[in-house]
Amino acid sequence: MKVIGINASPRKGANTQTLVEAVLNGAEERGAETRLVNLREQKINGCLGCEGCKKHLGQCVQKDDLTLLLQEMTTYDAIVVGTPVYWYHVAAQFKMLVDRLYCFLEFGENPDTGEQTIKSEFPRGKKMIFIISRGDPEPPALFPQFYDHLQEWLNLIPLSLGAGRFEFFHQFGAGIDRKAARNDPELLRKAKATGAGLLSST
Ligand SMILES: Cc1cc2nc3c(=O)[nH]c(=O)nc-3n(C[C@H](O)[C@H](O)[C@H](O)COP(=O)(O)O)c2cc1C
Repeated sequence: MKVIGINASPRKGANTQTLVEAVLNGAEERGAETRLVNLREQKINGCLGCEGCKKHLGQCVQKDDLTLLLQEMTTYDAIVVGTPVYWYHVAAQFKMLVDRLYCFLEFGENPDTGEQTIKSEFPRGKKMIFIISRGDPEPPALFPQFYDHLQEWLNLIPLSLGAGRFEFFHQFGAGIDRKAARNDPELLRKAKATGAGLLSST
């Protein structure tokens, strides 16, 4: 099995990266081939909204590292993506990646029912793990509804891409401590177990 880990935190070696690496390690120990990509080291742009991809579905017209990464993602069996929570949502780097995944999607309408349809050119059936690191504890002291909204939004990603199986791995209460995950053996154990779980058939 081939597993790609994508870390969207701009902080080098901090919580999100630590957890993405722990998930990859868990998968590696079960025999997976893994690769880690730190988005902070990539030259990436946001979606231009040019709709050029609708002429050649699955191909973004931009020439940056994300265009290559999007193609590379299609070749892996499992995708692990991590983001810190910023302003009750994902980090900008993660949002750029998700916006650019638009290149795989085609929106249409069922001529009989008038219902909106979404077709995805992204290869179906991938396993996906989303890692979300946040400063707030669970339950949060303020605005819990925004976290519910974030979770609903995150669900959209694997559903739109036709993932075969997906799960969310949360770190709560990190504050601004970049080493919070590294100093939490139980959290690291769970992250490794989540990675190992990618190799199980259920
Ligand atoms: C710009 C910014 C906005 C943040 N907003 C939130 C937030 O809305 N909720 C929260 O729980 N933590 C928030 N945090 C804290 C981070 O989510 C937390 O420190 C996380 O562990 C960072 O991940 P990292 O260590 O991988 O960078 C914010 C941090 C920054 C820098």
